Amino acid sequence: MSEEIIVSGMRPTGKLHLGNYHGALKNWLSLQDKYKCFFFIADLHALTTSYKQTEDLAANSERMLIDWLSAGLDPKKCHIFVQSDVPEISELNTLLGMITPLGWLLRNPTYKDQVNELLARKYAGQLKGDENTPLAERVKGLADEDISVYGFLGYPVLMATDILIHKAAYVPVGEDQTAHVEIARDLVRRFNEIYGVENVFVEPKPLFTKETKVPGLDGHKMSKSYHNTLDLGEELEPARKKIMSMFTDPNKKKANDPADPQHCVVYAFHKIYNPNYAKRCEECKAGALGCVACKKELYALMEPELTAFLDRRKTFENDKAQLQAILKEGAAAARESAAKTLQEVKRAMKVIK
Ligand code: TRP
Repeated sequence: MSEEIIVSGMRPTGKLHLGNYHGALKNWLSLQDKYKCFFFIADLHALTTSYKQTEDLAANSERMLIDWLSAGLDPKKCHIFVQSDVPEISELNTLLGMITPLGWLLRNPTYKDQVNELLARKYAGQLKGDENTPLAERVKGLADEDISVYGFLGYPVLMATDILIHKAAYVPVGEDQTAHVEIARDLVRRFNEIYGVENVFVEPKPLFTKETKVPGLDGHKMSKSYHNTLDLGEELEPARKKIMSMFTDPNKKKANDPADPQHCVVYAFHKIYNPNYAKRCEECKAGALGCVACKKELYALMEPELTAFLDRRKTFENDKAQLQAILKEGAAAARESAAKTLQEVKRAMKVIK
């Protein structure tokens, strides 16, 4: 067990699916055994892009907690909390805002790209044009709320705060978050230079997950706006049906037609779940493996994991008291760690003696 600290968060935007699991959560599961981890539900970050539609915010946060627990995140091994339960974050965010050059945030095209990226993620099913159309064109007119707001401009400062407040050494994130972690590192250097200190913050490093590509059932990126997901909370029978309906190579019309596994969603999943995937690939190419048999095998391979998700979910889902207790404990630990750093920051900035 390392004493080094890990911080990561997710915006609570709805149900998590297997893309989120293989892309991020599974990595968190191994980290919780090796490091001191803080994993949090970034409800304030969710507000930066959805400040009008907030009626689902609290429910989404709870749903995400249940998803995390059902995936195997263990509150005995890591601290799980809700961002807004730690007011020290908002306080440090204010202080760091004082020294963040506007240019870093406005720097074009990064900020505009981010706006467009987030809109594209949010409205993935409604984008105009095709992949060759510039993103700015594809998202035009889609936003139901204007995210040219102060809060969204400050998104990277808040994210830097999340990380720096716990002196995290590593931040497990997707590659799309690189620029954000970079701003956190730049802020550490700037803070040190301005206030002549060295040890208040730690320069965090991004920890990229080894890319596990999980396509949606239809072969597009798995995303809830495409309605092509297998969710973490999926019951077995609906999951089986979804697997049996996955897209396969359209050139394979009969069970013994040869096909190209590269054009097959089922094969992409075999790569994750089947140690014999290379053999299945050869059999498929040779026309020796029919799609129905191939899908049945995949379901059998996935069933134990899906069952484990469901079993854990059942123990938490109806136990609100336990969910609250987990968040309470997580917030207490996060506040203790955050308060220490905040104290050092205020001293360095001469806000307190
Ligand atoms: N910006 C991250 C995302 O959209 C979520 C996030 C907020 C985060 N604060 C963080 C991730 C701190 C890692 C560390 O995915």
